Amino acid sequence: MSRYQHSEELLTRALQTIPLGSQTFSKSKTQFPEGASPFFLEKGKGSKVWDVDGNEYIDFMNGLLCVSIGYADDEVNNAVCTQIQNGTSFSLPHRLEMEVAEKLVEMIPCAEKVRFGKNGTDATSGAIRLARAYTNKEMILVCGYHGWQDWYIGSTSRNLGVPESTRALTKTFVYNDIESLKRLTALYKGKVAAIIMEPMNVEFPNPGYLESVQQIAKEEGIVFIFDETITGCRFAKGGAQELFNITPDLATFGKGLANGFPLSAVVGKSEIMDLMEDIFFSGTFAGETASLAAAKVVLEKVEKLDTPTALRKTGEYLLTNLNKLIIDLECQSFLKTAGHPSWSFLMIQDTEPYSSFEIKTLFMQEVLQRGILTFGTHNISYSHSVEDIDTLLSCYKQVFPILKEAIETQTVKEKLNCKVLQPLFKVR
Ligand SMILES: Cc1ncc(COP(=O)(O)O)c(C=O)c1O
Repeated sequence: MSRYQHSEELLTRALQTIPLGSQTFSKSKTQFPEGASPFFLEKGKGSKVWDVDGNEYIDFMNGLLCVSIGYADDEVNNAVCTQIQNGTSFSLPHRLEMEVAEKLVEMIPCAEKVRFGKNGTDATSGAIRLARAYTNKEMILVCGYHGWQDWYIGSTSRNLGVPESTRALTKTFVYNDIESLKRLTALYKGKVAAIIMEPMNVEFPNPGYLESVQQIAKEEGIVFIFDETITGCRFAKGGAQELFNITPDLATFGKGLANGFPLSAVVGKSEIMDLMEDIFFSGTFAGETASLAAAKVVLEKVEKLDTPTALRKTGEYLLTNLNKLIIDLECQSFLKTAGHPSWSFLMIQDTEPYSSFEIKTLFMQEVLQRGILTFGTHNISYSHSVEDIDTLLSCYKQVFPILKEAIETQTVKEKLNCKVLQPLFKVR
């Protein structure tokens, strides 16, 4: 019997009613090798999750970084339970909206005013509309991933269904390559409303890079937006803008803001944010109080426990030992690490005669089998302990030699119990 039998049955069933079998692209069968992966989780506590077959994992995906404190955190859940006894969505605003807004203004350097949404996409799309309204210009320059709305996704290879006229308004620049941004601002001089970027994803910013981007935005009268959907409350209490000491005009937050409850926020300078009263940015559930109650506890924990420092330390312990392991096991030709310690990546390289996807499929088959849930990222939560990291490292210690041997003896495909993952559209 397959270790993932029930998962596989549920996937077959889900596909009858749910395209992709998932609500989220990165949680779908596109990312997990069929035959060697779980497809459904049942529950989680702290750093651990259990799939529908009862297999236990240490989770290094953490709901795509929305679980920032840990699964089913008692204090967050108590606050949510108390709130839902009193009602969740109301007919008028609730005081939690201003309490959480005030906290964000206190913590985030660029935040003078705040509006909430549910998904990160709500926040990035709100920020873009604000920038267009503020500048009365239409072009948008992007760097990183910013969600599923037309204005952004139209600029990627997943642009099916996005009008050509919308696609023409968004252009991509390359991270850490200031010339690529300069070329675009010269080409579209006087037409650019916003520069929106992840302040960091895979690579650290080169010295002076973010400062130069900000300078260009300033000189050209462009609204400068940091998309901190992931980095917010993770890289520092005030997000990447605090860590890198760059204060953008606007910033967007989401993911870990409420430890898995749905909440996002657009924050920024009053002069721009006040235009929220004139544009249309509105949602029935944007002031939903269970998520705001969760966020209030999360932000208290971020402040009082200094969770960003804890995440960084846990991640540094992992990266130091992982880099050493890659060298000790002589895997440098196909493995390397990247990213910030709190959100790091094991990068698998194409290695003749194999594509990185073929090697990654074997990697996932082997780590999932050993109770580690990852597709190559280490999304650290406050619940990850040193023991969890040691367990991950000892799993890698077993798996890396399997990969190395399979590459050297050209037996990667023979070792697979599953279909090879397909190359996907790349946004980072
Ligand atoms: C940097 C960044 N921006 C925006 C988004 C979109 O957020 P959501 O999926 O909550 O709409 C994501 C999601 O992965 C993200 O990583």
